[in-house]
Amino acid sequence: MKNTVTSFMAAKGKEKLSMVTAYDYSTARMVQESPVNAILVGDSLGMVMLGYENTLAVTLEDMLHHCKAVARACRDPLLVCDLPFLSYHISVEDSVRNAGRLLAEGGCEAVKLEGGVEFCQEIRSLTRASIPVMGHLGLTPQSIHAFGGFKVQGKSIAAAQKLLDDARAIQDAGVFSIVLEGIPQALARRISSELAVPTIGIGAGAGCDGQVLVWHDMMGISARKPKFARCFAELAPTFQEALRNFDAAVKSGEFPSSEYCYQVEQEEEIAARIK
Ligand code: KIV
Repeated sequence: MKNTVTSFMAAKGKEKLSMVTAYDYSTARMVQESPVNAILVGDSLGMVMLGYENTLAVTLEDMLHHCKAVARACRDPLLVCDLPFLSYHISVEDSVRNAGRLLAEGGCEAVKLEGGVEFCQEIRSLTRASIPVMGHLGLTPQSIHAFGGFKVQGKSIAAAQKLLDDARAIQDAGVFSIVLEGIPQALARRISSELAVPTIGIGAGAGCDGQVLVWHDMMGISARKPKFARCFAELAPTFQEALRNFDAAVKSGEFPSSEYCYQVEQEEEIAARIK
């Protein structure tokens, strides 16, 4: 079944939503063959695919490149793509142009942006241009320097109130869903119960309307796994074993055996006769 922004909103209170990140065609094919509701081409690709320390260096061209690859395989999951740092911060016109490119060229069906009440104007302009927007509040990685590191947010009454106010404001501005990242579970539960749109949690507990994980974290292949990320498969040792076996088979001459070679008539004679 095709997941859309409307099926996402209709799921609130009825069915939990699942979302995973993907950054390439082959991974997106696997998600396409699963019941997962949505694929996020996250700017986390800067860290897990490109090896940056954080997401700040990721460009719109990076996002377009990866989004196009994912879109070639993604049919049933809702495809959401992150607006990277500085692609929606400078002007409303810029935000619409950049988000529009992610839909028109990248092939996604919605964009995600980080931030609260201060981005309501951008959210209104995007939705006016028929660009569906997913919000993102809490430990928003593009604000890592403002936060002084990857730190849990919403720990004081004032900070928790600001997050609830932000959630209400961006909902009113038109987001169809909100990612809640790195906040206490009681706060995430409270925000989720206050909103009409579904919340998707990551490091925010089970009270959200859905959950998202980064592919590399859930598959056990990331360099640094955050505390909140559960490994649903431990694939790094499997990959390491495959690499050791390949190396040994190459060095012993056991690979490639004849089953992995093309058989051509008179090949010995042809090879012998060429000068
Ligand atoms: O970039 C990303 O992968 C994200 C998720 C962690 C929600 O924003």
